[in-house]
Amino acid sequence: MLTVTPITPRFGATCSGLDLTRKLTPAEVCEVTDAMDQWGITVWRNTGMSDADHVEFSRNFGFLERVPLREDTPYRLPFRELFDASNLNAQGDITNDPAAILYRKGDRLWHTDSAFMSLRTSYSLLLAHDVPREGGETWFADTRSAYDDLSQAMKDKLEGLIGVNSLWWSRKQAGADISEEEIDARPKAEHPLVHVHKGSGRKALFIAAHTMDVTGDIKGMDQAEGRALIRELIEHATQPQYIFSVSWNAGDMVIWDNLCSMHKGGEYDYTTRRRDMRRTTVREGTEPHQLETGDDPYGELFAMAPRVVDINAARAAGQ
Ligand code: OGA
Ligand code: MN
Repeated sequence: MLTVTPITPRFGATCSGLDLTRKLTPAEVCEVTDAMDQWGITVWRNTGMSDADHVEFSRNFGFLERVPLREDTPYRLPFRELFDASNLNAQGDITNDPAAILYRKGDRLWHTDSAFMSLRTSYSLLLAHDVPREGGETWFADTRSAYDDLSQAMKDKLEGLIGVNSLWWSRKQAGADISEEEIDARPKAEHPLVHVHKGSGRKALFIAAHTMDVTGDIKGMDQAEGRALIRELIEHATQPQYIFSVSWNAGDMVIWDNLCSMHKGGEYDYTTRRRDMRRTTVREGTEPHQLETGDDPYGELFAMAPRVVDINAARAAGQ
């Protein structure tokens, strides 16, 4: 039987009582989905899951995004459904590749996974394999309660506004040397700043470090005002009453629903401490088994993810 223990009054719960290494019954999958719909984030301690268990369990919730294979980047993990959120290279050693380090730095800004794709990510399931003794926690923010608590004037202002999201915008925020013209020339995805979270019927903000501009019914707002509004919303939604952090042990898993939360990685010494985290990612709107096989058409966008810094120049400069 599933036991659900809230972490904050409105957001986040620790779950126990289900063995996630075996195939769940439909009733059990419903219990997990109900817990997710209510709490947005569920924390599962000491799961004992293998990579294969992780992928199999994740398939209960829909079509899994796949990591594209890139000729120039060897892949460390056994399944393409596993996104590598570690600080390790393909050999399993701590990476000193400046591009990889910068890419991960983007994960330590408040974001929602895949906001930059036209079909978004619903659940992300992150499983810890090896964690540093200090730091490296993950933070979560409640975008439903943050919306609920906005003034009516702000809710009215957000009506009809659409966020423009780019993977490269978030990497620019993390320090990547990329111009706005280059970002503009690459794919972007538009999503309303406010949407109804299907599983709960509650409204939620949909914002991320990827959100670069505001469009839609902008009511005379210019670009600077749009960007200030995005910053204001992210600051609002990440105040202490909306957030909590999870400290990891190997074997722990957290499931977050990107459509009602934001998250970010905590700081840690990524140059000397190993942190091996692996993530499966469920595509929005593909709940149980609709599209379980076949290539994810959106993998293309990841395949295009450029080397956002000139690695050779960085190496030559001795970084
Ligand atoms: C992710 C992510 C943060 C972390 O895997 O999507 O943002 O703490 N991870 O590893
Ligand atoms: Mn993420």
